[in-house]
Amino acid sequence: MESQLLKEEILRLKEEKGALIMAHYYQRPEIQEIADFIGDSLALARQAAKTDAKVIVMCGVHFMGETAKILCPDKKVLIPDAEAGCSLADSCDPADLEKFIAERPGHTVVSYVNTSAAVKALTDVVVTSGNARKIIEQLPADEKIIFGPDRNLGEYINSVSGRSMVLWNGACHVHDRFSIEKILEMKREHPGARILVHPECRRQLQLIADKVGSTAALLDFARSDEAKEYIVVTESGILVEMRAKCPGKTFLAAPAEDAECQCNECEYMKLNTLEKLRDCLRDETPEINVDSEIAARAVRPIERMLAMS
Ligand code: 13P
Ligand code: SF4
Repeated sequence: MESQLLKEEILRLKEEKGALIMAHYYQRPEIQEIADFIGDSLALARQAAKTDAKVIVMCGVHFMGETAKILCPDKKVLIPDAEAGCSLADSCDPADLEKFIAERPGHTVVSYVNTSAAVKALTDVVVTSGNARKIIEQLPADEKIIFGPDRNLGEYINSVSGRSMVLWNGACHVHDRFSIEKILEMKREHPGARILVHPECRRQLQLIADKVGSTAALLDFARSDEAKEYIVVTESGILVEMRAKCPGKTFLAAPAEDAECQCNECEYMKLNTLEKLRDCLRDETPEINVDSEIAARAVRPIERMLAMS
């Protein structure tokens, strides 16, 4: 079906069902275009917490839908493709984390939002890349902290806050494989370009960045900065909004290590399509549900995050 017709059908179904369509910046351009709200993980959680809509369609990955469902248990939360997972969330199994915590008594557990509901249920406070530094800095200086699952974000927070958090050894397969050599080569070809780096990238990339930040923070930086050209070291979906919000500026997607693949794309994020969005609104499935006992424990660290950021 023509994408215009699909879009019209989606808008009609959205009205009929009283649904709110939310999309992460890594979604396909046509999904970002039709969404009611686009944002980073933090903005999506905040928006879910305050919406009056009866139905939320989370065009993102599973943990984003779970976070919305935990915050709004009475709403129906849909996701266009239930297989849209996250390698970073998968790198932290709740049973393994439970053991890790038991081996380190007296630690506060801080988890990145890119985790399953079961991991959040073991957590004292959740953070996103947009508020991790602010939240960690509010904890007492001598507090012993376990941070997981992203070791790169953890290293970044340790470096800017002077903490020595114990880090879980997890990573995102997209951000962890950007190549510093290729990015430096790109910088030689575009000497005036600023380098924007997501903190899920390796430390060596954080060190050459002009700005390290969440997707929303990188976007805000580009909007207010005077440079004309940027090398963007994160999932390339963010370029859609950067180009839309910064006309006249050039955004170059950083290449990944393996030239053969679209390594700067998250295949989970790209599983959602307009067609699947239409189907999920029409059929009200796949729906995201969270076990009520897990949700009751997981809501506390998420609400604590919202209160602290
Ligand atoms: P932010 O949206 O918080 O920048 O996170 C990026 C990400 O990897 C989401 O999956
Ligand atoms: Fe997870 Fe990485 Fe994809 Fe974000 S980009 S959803 S962290 S796999």
